[in-house]
Amino acid sequence: MACGYCYTHDGCVFKDDANELAEKLEKSDGLLIAAPVYYGSANGSVISLLDRMFYSSHFDKRFKVGAAFAVARRAGTTATFDELNKYFTINQMPIASGRYWNNGFGREKEQISEDEEGLQNARIVARNMVFLMRSIALGKEKYGLPEKEEIKFTHFIK
Ligand SMILES: Cc1cc2nc3c(=O)[nH]c(=O)nc-3n(C[C@H](O)[C@H](O)[C@H](O)COP(=O)(O)O)c2cc1C
Repeated sequence: MACGYCYTHDGCVFKDDANELAEKLEKSDGLLIAAPVYYGSANGSVISLLDRMFYSSHFDKRFKVGAAFAVARRAGTTATFDELNKYFTINQMPIASGRYWNNGFGREKEQISEDEEGLQNARIVARNMVFLMRSIALGKEKYGLPEKEEIKFTHFIK
């Protein structure tokens, strides 16, 4: 509802998972999001959570590592993967990638255990994510974070 409460208070006006997730992310070096595909995109509840969590939290998210996974019965994983990665790429969060566009296939619980390639890719992404988080921690110690600019916020409505 874009009430702007979070600009004058700590967190979202609705006291729920979005605030809890923000608190956890502030203390973390990375964020891994996994979502099922519903009608060719991420399921609605994960998008609502992420919209509210990213919008209502104002701590520095730069260089927290992101990784996204999409799970479907058959189709829509690449669109979902792109959709989820957008939260990272608007927040200066580097992405841990794998050797495919992170997906897994299964309709029912446990079916994904038969997706050997999907599981292998998940292991690769997990290792890459840990490596990146450790490397960034060392880089922060040695070089500090890059200079931060005051954000320009323009619009083109005349
Ligand atoms: C409302 C709904 C929409 C779905 N849409 C798709 C879809 O577009 N493509 C697809 O491959 N699977 C689709 N599925 C199947 C789910 O992606 C799949 O069953 C997934 O594993 C469900 O995860 P969940 O049990 O955590 O919701 C859909 C399932 C539901 C319930």
